Amino acid sequence: MTELPPPEAVIVAGGFGTRLLPLTARRPKHLLDVGGVPFLEHQIARLAEAGVEHIVLATSYQADMFAPVLGDGSRWGVRLDYVLEEEPLGTGGAIRNVAGALTDDPNGAVIILNGDVLSGHDLAGQLADFRAGRNGRRVDVSLHLVEVEDARAFGCVPTDEEGRVLDFVEKSDHPVTNQVNAGCYIFRRDIIDTIAPDTVVSVERETFPGLVADGRLVVGFVETAYWRDVGTPAALVAASRDVVLGTAPTPAVDAVESGARVDPSASVAGTATVGGGSVVMADVVIEDAAEISGSVLMTGARIGAGARITDSVVGPGAVVGEKAVLTEATLGDDATIGASVTLPAGERVDCGEAREG
Ligand code: GDD
Ligand code: MG
Repeated sequence: MTELPPPEAVIVAGGFGTRLLPLTARRPKHLLDVGGVPFLEHQIARLAEAGVEHIVLATSYQADMFAPVLGDGSRWGVRLDYVLEEEPLGTGGAIRNVAGALTDDPNGAVIILNGDVLSGHDLAGQLADFRAGRNGRRVDVSLHLVEVEDARAFGCVPTDEEGRVLDFVEKSDHPVTNQVNAGCYIFRRDIIDTIAPDTVVSVERETFPGLVADGRLVVGFVETAYWRDVGTPAALVAASRDVVLGTAPTPAVDAVESGARVDPSASVAGTATVGGGSVVMADVVIEDAAEISGSVLMTGARIGAGARITDSVVGPGAVVGEKAVLTEATLGDDATIGASVTLPAGERVDCGEAREG
């Protein structure tokens, strides 16, 4: 038997992050702070832990912002390459577009991650299952699958009793099962070459249904470990809390016993309280008696005395006036909230926008 090359990975990270606006107006969602570090650091650390040595980032939106933050991968002992799509090619087109950066061994295993999923599932186990095959037959693609309560926002993936994928229906109003695509695939290397090059292709709407219809062996890897797509402000802030409080296992950072991660360069008044899994990034200033719970305060944000911020994201450089009240709010970069203003729950304030009482 010839030796298999080590597994490689691709992170598809070219989406606009529309549901995370205004936080994504000036940066890709994949670099937003979750648990105190740019989101992709969780995924890169996990891949490194699973034995991956080479990771390719498929980028498009704000592509030049990735390398200055993540570098060449040496921090994690991996080689990190960046491949740019001038025009976004869709999830399938993005995967096909990085083929030239991957091994050309047709039997290589390529792990593909949606770049916005925080997951504790057993990646090494999924890889072993992929390589084990089924009844002497090689697996073409393995899909990590999870159960959700409402499957409408996801790819719905029914399987048979042996775990073989029967269909793939992306975002339907009437999902036939609550078992959904969790956004971690393992492709055999030669399957990637079956995707049309230089073409906009959706892996969910075209490639997966096509592979199943062609009788390819697509299998599900069902897991119940921690899993969350961080694609909305509510999910981002929940994921960040989960990392800080240790509910979400990640090799990228340690959980914090005090219940909050505060950057050493931040200035927090002694009478202020910061807890509930909050993250306070660099150069943030929090004044007297402010109460911060379950929130993310990004670099350089300023919080006035007596302000109350709960389950919210305060973007870089945003200013919250004294006694203002924010609940499940999202403030874009440099937004300002006047003194004593109470925002309606779930409110979003654009970059640079001012709200007065
Ligand atoms: N390079 C590149 N080019 N990346 C892209 C493109 C593109 O044109 N379009 C989307 N992406 C990336 C996004 O940046 C993200 O990391 C990933 O592909 C998935 O896109 P989302 O926009 O986050 O999709 P979704 O959350 O609605 O649905 C996907 O994830 C669900 C699980 O979280 C689908 O894969 C569903 O089937 C799945 O259930
Ligand atoms: Mg998503």
